[in-house]
Parts: sequence; C-alpha cells; structure tokens
Amino acid sequence: MQQLHDVIIACDFKSAEDTFRFLDLFRDEERKPFLKIGMELYYAEGPSIVREIKRRGHRIFLDLKLHDIPNTVRKAMAVLSRLDVDMCNVHAAGTVEMMKAAREGLTREDGTRPLLIAVTQLTSTSEERMRRELLIDASIDDTIVHYARNTREAGLDGVVCSPLEAGMVHEACGAEFLTITPGVRFADGEVADQVRVTTPARAREIGSDFIVVGRPITAAADPVAAYRRCMAEFLGE
Ligand code: C5P
Repeated sequence: MQQLHDVIIACDFKSAEDTFRFLDLFRDEERKPFLKIGMELYYAEGPSIVREIKRRGHRIFLDLKLHDIPNTVRKAMAVLSRLDVDMCNVHAAGTVEMMKAAREGLTREDGTRPLLIAVTQLTSTSEERMRRELLIDASIDDTIVHYARNTREAGLDGVVCSPLEAGMVHEACGAEFLTITPGVRFADGEVADQVRVTTPARAREIGSDFIVVGRPITAAADPVAAYRRCMAEFLGE
C-alpha cells in the first residue's frame, strides 16, 4: 500500500558522489526517505543513479517534466516505467492527448504503473509573462485549475503546484486528486529564492498530499534531524 502523504527530499546534487554522501546520513533510518531526482542529477549520472538509489530502498520521484509529441512521450515513459520509479511527471501544456499517451506508456503489462503527475504553470512564470509571451489571456489561478482539470481528464493522478494552490486544485478536481507541492520552509528557517512559501504543517492543512523539500533538509547542519522535524510537522506525528 502506497503511503499517500509524505515528505519528498529534493536531491538537487550535481553528482552521484554528493548524493550518496548525503544519503549515507540516512543509513540507519528505519523509514527511508522518498527522494526527488531532477534533471541535473539524472543528466549527469543517467539511469544508473535511479537503480542504485532504488537498490538502497528509497522511493523515487523522477522529475523530468516530459513535454513532446504524444508518441515520443509514450515511448519515453515506457523506459521510465522499466526503471521502476514511483512517481514521474509531464507538462500539462503538452495537451490531454500527450498526457494520455504518457499514462499508456507508463502502464506495465500487469496494469501497474508509477504515479503520474503534471506540472500546470511553473511557479517561475508570472501572470504578466504568461499573458505577454504565451498569449494565455486568463488569470494564473484559472490557468492552473484548467490545466489541473485537463490532467484529471487524461487520467493522471495529480499536479505539482504551490502549497497555497492545493486547496483550489482539490476543490476543482476532488480530494483524491494529488497535490505535490514545493515551496516549503520551516517557520524559523531561511526562505532563499522561494517566494510563495509555507510551513509543513500549514501545507498539510491547506491540502498538500506530498511536500517537496530541498534546502531546508539538504543544507541543514543536521539533515536527518531536519527531515524528522519536517515529517513530524507535516504528518502531525
Ligand atoms: O530547496 P528547495 O526546497 O527550494 O527545493 C524545491 C525543489 O522543488 C527544487 O528541486 C525545485 O526545482 C523544485 N520546484 C520548485 N518549484 C516548482 C517546481 C519545482 O521549487 N514550481
């Protein structure tokens, strides 16, 4: 049974060496953290980094944000499915047809598949740029809700969004539709370059199903203690 509320640590490291130095700190932890591997680490180290981290017993969100023609995405997803990741993602802007193709490609012969989520609008895209450069003549909130509805229509499991948008997405797409939310900070911690942030406890209250946390854990003096604190605050343990 998958645990449907969890803290995902963003492993934004440049090499396998740095990653394993960090993961070694968690060797004695009973609960192996759920990890996010993004483009930097995957492009640096390739699929072997995924296999090695799986072998150590971690669940993996492979954050590669696929966006291409449906046939290409279907075939790429079939490859990621064989890598046995637990969660992966696409851009909802690739259309409902592309998202359906992603789901088909990801589904194994026995009918199982990793969780599949979509990026709505990147949090780095402002409403002003969306209107001027992308010619999307709607508010950012309406765009996010519309893309989330498309994602649900394509049969995907949820979206990546800001924790502050999680309630709005659940209202539009239902309680079962997952929200995966970065932009989480401890109340007494550094915000760094994130703008719209909230705490683990507040993220859960608003409706986040999974929080993605990078630097508050990876750059902490004691990453294991920071991870435990994050889990305790988010899960209310
Ligand atoms: O270090 P920090 O907690 O800010 O890391 C957040 C992680 O979530 C990073 O890997 C970042 O790329 C990712 N992310 C984000 N905002 C989005 C999408 C992904 O911060 N909209």
